[in-house]
Amino acid sequence: GRIVVLAGGLSHERDVSLRSGRRVAEALRSVGLEVEERDVDSSLLPALLADKPACVVPMLHGETGEDGAIREVLDLVGIPYVGAPPAACRVAFDKPVAKIVAGRAGISTPESVCLPAESFRELGATAVMDLIVERLGLPLMVKPARSGSALGCSVVRSADQLPAAMVSAYAYGTVALLERFVEGTEVAVPVIDTGDGPEALPVVEIRPDGGVYDYSARYTAGSTTFVTPASLSDELTAECQRVALAAHAAFGLRDLSRSDLIVDSEGTVWFLEVNVAPGFTETSTVPLSVQAQGADLGELVASVVAAASR
Ligand code: DAL
Ligand code: MG
Repeated sequence: GRIVVLAGGLSHERDVSLRSGRRVAEALRSVGLEVEERDVDSSLLPALLADKPACVVPMLHGETGEDGAIREVLDLVGIPYVGAPPAACRVAFDKPVAKIVAGRAGISTPESVCLPAESFRELGATAVMDLIVERLGLPLMVKPARSGSALGCSVVRSADQLPAAMVSAYAYGTVALLERFVEGTEVAVPVIDTGDGPEALPVVEIRPDGGVYDYSARYTAGSTTFVTPASLSDELTAECQRVALAAHAAFGLRDLSRSDLIVDSEGTVWFLEVNVAPGFTETSTVPLSVQAQGADLGELVASVVAAASR
């Protein structure tokens, strides 16, 4: 039957999603599958009910796509899809919640504080900075609790940078996460299950030319150098893959995920987050890892689709 790739939607990552969806759809077509690309609007449900696709690939990033909402709908109408079930998505997509779950599973994650906009306004930037610096030190990463593609994220190196960073984070939601900044090697590790159990793919090392892996470093071709497999020792590579598999299991994920980690100079692997609909754009890390594995993207995604459709 036909495969439907969902892409677009109304999150801040709409453009990225359209690029990921296009790439996945083309990869699946290249191995002879019949694929329809669909945006997400009110026509979706009647179309799904009428067409009953064999499988849906939700390449929707950010809200609705990664918070589990669209998968609730697919579960409701009984259409198989690639990726984690709704409850697992909800937990993985909420960074403060995800860090608690990871910590309970014995996965190291940088110390953090979670701050709603209302509390920030009540306490004031100066009091917040004093409290946070005492607790976490500097520099800090400030992020929206629920977002992706580094939108609204900033590094805070001195106290005067905090207010602007908080404003940027709150532009993407009502809760901000302030996290101890870990200096080290930034890596991404995909986990893929084609039916024989989850397998970690090659580790991708991320070296943004400007030093920060922000939105433009992610999606402007040539602005980041990727090293795959990462220039880590065999032991550290194995440890990154172990952590990615542990996260995939701890969150109850299925089919496909990508853990984002930092390896510090002492060899500790820090978990930042896990993505339930990782990017598949021309500059995203999952396709690079698949290539380093020596696999064909179309064949691999088709195997995941086949396993998810069963
Ligand atoms: N949120 C983007 C799509 C990613 O994680 O690749
Ligand atoms: Mg993310």
